[in-house]
Amino acid sequence: MNPLKHVAIIMDGNGRWGLKYKNSRNAGHKAGLKVVEKIIKETIKKEIKYLTLYAFSTENWKRPKNEVNYLFKLLENFLINKIEDLNNQKIKLKIIGYKKFSKKLNKLLNYSEKKTSKNSKLQINLALNYGSKSELIGAFKKIRVKKFKISEENIDRNLQTKNIPDPDLLIRTGNTKRLSNFLLWQLAYSEIFFEKKLWPAFNEKDYNRIIKEYRKIKRNFGKI
Ligand code: IPE
Ligand code: IPE
Ligand code: MG
Repeated sequence: MNPLKHVAIIMDGNGRWGLKYKNSRNAGHKAGLKVVEKIIKETIKKEIKYLTLYAFSTENWKRPKNEVNYLFKLLENFLINKIEDLNNQKIKLKIIGYKKFSKKLNKLLNYSEKKTSKNSKLQINLALNYGSKSELIGAFKKIRVKKFKISEENIDRNLQTKNIPDPDLLIRTGNTKRLSNFLLWQLAYSEIFFEKKLWPAFNEKDYNRIIKEYRKIKRNFGKI
């Protein structure tokens, strides 16, 4: 059975779900957040140590302002209402992606990271304004400034995911088979599951089904 330390998820399909059932994309984002809470609980139950959630990409700024604002308001309210609870559950929150949001949200994100920084039950890496290409450029620039050599280790150490093991498992919901600029370096050897269901329809049962499948895979890492 494969060990499972780190799950990464591209939570896709909120907009389509919202339009289909509530006639509003934003309603889909709201429903999607409920699923995030369920999956966090299940991840703790399974004793998985890292959960990386793709919540907003560097490309998502191209969406209508109303949707972008709604997403950040949702996140803001979530943190205000839930950070205490996350902290009590010994969850550590880390943001990956450059924090270029409103002053209020930047502050709230910094506060949430600091407050939970000593926790070690589960680390949630929330990918916000995250893009893998921009992350890699940032890493190369840091290496250049320090005049270090370009090596696998030095790249790992200068990414925003430094000290986080690479994902063992990537799940993308929403019936689309692409990576959309997510963790391109870190996913080099991850097991990838593309799930037909839209994110708001995804549930613990689906998650457990995928984990069970993952456990049975023969992971070679180039060996035989
Ligand atoms: C993913 O769902 C959530 C974000 C990108 C914020 P989408 O909003 O992309 O949903 P679809 O793919 O349009 O249905
Ligand atoms: C990927 O979903 C980003 C997140 C889930 C946050 P998108 O819906 O933005 O991806 P594309 O644009 O369809 O590839
Ligand atoms: Mg999408």
